[in-house]
Amino acid sequence: MKDTKQYQLDRENVPQHVAIVMDGNGRWAKKRSLPRLAGHNAGMAALKEIVKRSDVLGVKYLTVYAFSTENWKRPADEVSGIFKLLIVYMKKELAELHANNVHVQIFGDYSRLPKDSIDALETALEKTKNNTGLKFNIALNYGGRDEMMQAIRRLAAKCCDGTLKPEELSEEMVAQQLYTAGMPDPELIIRTSGELRLSNFLLWQSAYSEFVFTDVLWPDFTPEEYERCIAEFQGRKRRYGGV
Ligand code: FPP
Repeated sequence: MKDTKQYQLDRENVPQHVAIVMDGNGRWAKKRSLPRLAGHNAGMAALKEIVKRSDVLGVKYLTVYAFSTENWKRPADEVSGIFKLLIVYMKKELAELHANNVHVQIFGDYSRLPKDSIDALETALEKTKNNTGLKFNIALNYGGRDEMMQAIRRLAAKCCDGTLKPEELSEEMVAQQLYTAGMPDPELIIRTSGELRLSNFLLWQSAYSEFVFTDVLWPDFTPEEYERCIAEFQGRKRRYGGV
């Protein structure tokens, strides 16, 4: 049954930055005896609605985990299928994203993706780069440890060449080296499909994030369920280590 319940959200306390681990596409497909890619395709449709609702709710940054540094271990046809879907998504949605002033950004080293996927991504990055609305960050070939390793290497190089002293290193300097430089940390991280892990997502940035886990499989994740997750977030008391 479609969830049509309305959640009374406090519009003043909508998280600025929401991050989502979009999990469960494979299981959604399996339940229907469909190929896994059909699940990713349905997941893409779900994502479209969540981007729209984020904008309506006033979320400023939406970061979604589309492909991890570990996802290369999947069968080659699934990996190439996800990258093809990415092209479909960008071609279908770019005009609307741009019309809605959405700024698309990629977290991760996407240079390993097939050329046609890179082209589709770069078209989107270029077209939306001056947009001032929702920052829509797609994590692709992203891993939190990989992101931190790159930051450590760059800062270590500065220490070695003498432009930085180790004792001068600060949390802010590290944060400036991450894909999220200049953005607030995610106040809310949602993971679908009942899995209770972070899976190498936003390791540095999640220090004080609230986690909401839902059993709903990603393709079934509706804007109403999204609002329910935000309502759950709003019910939490955030203390940041204080009392
Ligand atoms: C996790 O489900 C999902 C992924 C690894 C891919 C996410 C891709 C999309 C939402 C669609 C494509 C959209 C873009 C922007 C690329 P899973 O396969 O791990 O599911 P399972 O745990 O049930 O097997």
